[in-house]
Amino acid sequence: MSAELSLPSLAGVPIARSPDDLRTWTATQRASGRRISFVPTMGALHAGHMALVDHARERAEAVVVSVFVNPLQFGPREDLDAYPRTLPADAELCRAHGVGLIFAPTAAAMYPGGFETHVEPGALAERWCGASRPGHFRGVATVVAKLLNLVMADVAVFGEKDWQQLQVIARMSRDLNHPTEIVGVPTLREPDGLALSSRNVFLTSEERRGARSIPDALREAQDKASAGECDAARLIAAIVGRVSDAGGRVDFVGIVDPETLVSCSSIDGPAQVLIAAYFGSTRLIDNARLTSAQSRSVGV
Ligand code: PAJ
Repeated sequence: MSAELSLPSLAGVPIARSPDDLRTWTATQRASGRRISFVPTMGALHAGHMALVDHARERAEAVVVSVFVNPLQFGPREDLDAYPRTLPADAELCRAHGVGLIFAPTAAAMYPGGFETHVEPGALAERWCGASRPGHFRGVATVVAKLLNLVMADVAVFGEKDWQQLQVIARMSRDLNHPTEIVGVPTLREPDGLALSSRNVFLTSEERRGARSIPDALREAQDKASAGECDAARLIAAIVGRVSDAGGRVDFVGIVDPETLVSCSSIDGPAQVLIAAYFGSTRLIDNARLTSAQSRSVGV
């Protein structure tokens, strides 16, 4: 009997609950010459996650999805306990999208007694979301480093929705010489533009109506930048105004270098606008690329 067949399954998808089971499965795949792609998640899967899975399937024959609500990346007053946990529905989606293995470890399997080693990201992780959520990216970097070490995938796929997270992980992976290629996939959105997120379920219908101001404000900034507005402060003020008028409490809006995330005062090359805002008690994040009229005319 193969190691794959000895694993329990949910909705027909094999599930590994421990690092050993995961490694046995991936070893079997590699021995049969299959490339492995990996999509780390915290579950409550939605179409945004599945866009990553579909991309992962294009990149390799065997797709591993991890479902792990990582306690290390939640602050003491954050929504760890309330975070939605929907493993049976997640497994259904995984089956429909051809996932080969779900890795759903317990917290004790990931952080056994005596665990005390962390990955400390640098300045990149201190800005923006890192300033609002101290320790968050340390928790993300630590769990992603562990997951990358466990799966040893050829490719790992992340969403551009969490732009800062993607930059922190790409930098960590370069700095620590992980052999896995880190790939970003564009944000999947609702028809009105709101980025899909597991946290959208917490929005009341009024908050949900207001939340579309986030993509609206980002799109307006993109239009203004391509029409020649290059003053970052003016663009930021317009975004803050639009989201506040819709009932949002803006945590931050920044216009930054896409890789270093350092603020820019004027848009004269590629720039990324980052936003975090609360609607009610739900914190939403989004981002978009700004292209200046100047850089478009020179083909950047
Ligand atoms: P989670 O929020 O579950 O997101 C898992 C992956 O899905 C991330 O790479 C995220 O950027 C991507 N994603 C979420 N919404 C998306 C959307 N609308 N369009 C495209 N991609 C989207 O991010 C995490 O989990 C965790 O921090 C994790 C990396 C798993 C570490 O614990």
